[in-house]
Amino acid sequence: MDGTRHNLRVDGPRLWATIQETAAFGATPEGGVGRLTLSAEDGTVRDWFRDACEAAGLEVGVDELGTQFALRRGRDMSRPPIACGSHLDTQPTGGRFDGVLGTLAGLEAMRTLNDAGIETDAPVMVVNWTNEEGSRFAPATMASAAHAGLFTADDILSRRDAAGISVGEALDAIGYRGPETVGTRAIGAFVELHIEQGPILDAEGETIGVVDRCQGVAWYDGTVTGFESHAGTTPMPRRRDAQCGLAEVALAAEAIALAHAPTAVATMGEAVIAAPSRNVVPGRIAFTLDLRDPDQGTLDAMDAALRERIAEIAARRNLAITLDKIWSRAPVVFDAGVVAAVEASTRGLSLSHRRMVSGAQHDACNLADRVPTAMIFVPCRDGISHNPAESATQADCTAGADVLLQTLVALANAPQSGSTSVTGGIDANTQSSAEPSS
Ligand code: GLV
Ligand code: MN
Ligand code: MN
Repeated sequence: MDGTRHNLRVDGPRLWATIQETAAFGATPEGGVGRLTLSAEDGTVRDWFRDACEAAGLEVGVDELGTQFALRRGRDMSRPPIACGSHLDTQPTGGRFDGVLGTLAGLEAMRTLNDAGIETDAPVMVVNWTNEEGSRFAPATMASAAHAGLFTADDILSRRDAAGISVGEALDAIGYRGPETVGTRAIGAFVELHIEQGPILDAEGETIGVVDRCQGVAWYDGTVTGFESHAGTTPMPRRRDAQCGLAEVALAAEAIALAHAPTAVATMGEAVIAAPSRNVVPGRIAFTLDLRDPDQGTLDAMDAALRERIAEIAARRNLAITLDKIWSRAPVVFDAGVVAAVEASTRGLSLSHRRMVSGAQHDACNLADRVPTAMIFVPCRDGISHNPAESATQADCTAGADVLLQTLVALANAPQSGSTSVTGGIDANTQSSAEPSS
C-alpha cells in the first residue's frame, strides 16, 4: 500500500469539543449526563445537532418518531445513502460517550469530507435514533426497530413512561414529531461507532473492535403480590412478604446466569414497592428483568429455568408472581461485507484491533434486519458505561471516527454490484476512491 493512501483523517480536537459541548445538555453533578429520551434536555441537544448538521450543509429530516436524518448529497443521488449514527439520549446515570460518540463522529465525518472537498458516489448520512436507551419508554432501540418494521409507528407512539406520558405526547412537547413516515427513509448500509461499554478492549490494550455480532436479549416485566400486614404484629410464619419473594427471584436470575457462565448475564434493574412504608410488610412489587446471551438456545433455557424457579418460589411463599416477556431480540450476525469494510479501514489506518461480539443492544442490531450493517467499538475505561464515570480517550474516539469515515467513504464509493464487498481506504489526495467536489 503506498504511503499516500488512507491519509484522510477526522479533526480529533473538533470531535472532542462537540462531545464536551453537548455534555452540558443534561449534565449531572457527578460529571455525567442524564438526558432521558424526549426530555427538554433531549430537545436541546436535538436542536444543537440539527443546527450543526445544517451548518455543515446537510439536509436534515425528521420522522414521525423523532429520528433525525442528516443527508450529505452524493454524485449519484439514485443510490441509497450509506448511513452512520447512533443516539443522543442517555440513561439517567449516563456518561458522555454512550451513543454520543457515534452520532457526533458521524457529524465529524461529514465536516471532514466538506473540508477535504470530497464528493462521494452514494450520498452519506448521519442518524440520531430516538430512544435507544429504553429507560424512559420500553423497549430500547424502539425507533430503529420501527424503522426495520419490527413495530408499527402507532404502537411506539402509544408507549407510556412511568408518569403516563406517551411517546407521541413527549414528541409533541419538544416539537419532534416529524413529517416523515417511519421506515420510508432509504438506507443502503449502516455503520455504528460506539464505545464498547465492556472491559475487553481496555484490558487487552486494543484500539478498535470490529463488531461482527450482537448478543440476544430478553426484557421482562414482573410483579410479586403478597399481602400487606403490620410489621410489628405479623408473626414471621404468617407473612406473605413480596419483598422477600422478590429477593429470591433476583438471586434465582443471578444463579441461572452463572449456570451459563461466562456468557450469560441477568439484571433486575428496577424494583418498586407499590406502597412503601417501613412498618408494613410489602404486599406488591413491580420489577424488571434483563437476560442476555449470544446464543438463542441459552436464552430459551434461561427463560425456562427462570419460570420454573419462580413457580417454586411463589408456591413455597404463598405469593403470586407474574413474568411477562415484553421485548426480545435474537442474536444478530452483522453483514460480512460491511464487517470486512470496517476491518479493511482499520488495517489501512494501522490500528490494533480484534473481532468482537456486542454485549449491549444497539440501533445497528435492528438495522441489520433490513440493510447490510456492522459496528465499530473503541475502548472505554475499565469497561464502565451507564455510569457518570464512563470515560474514553480523545485518541481512541478519534481513531474510531477515522475508521468510521474511511468505512463510510469506501462503501459510498464501492461499485454498485449488489455486494457490499470493498477493500477499504480513502485518500484525500487521489481521485480514484473519492473526488473533490467543485
Ligand atoms: C442499551 O443500552 C442496552 O440495553 O443494551
Ligand atoms: Mn448506546
Ligand atoms: Mn446505553
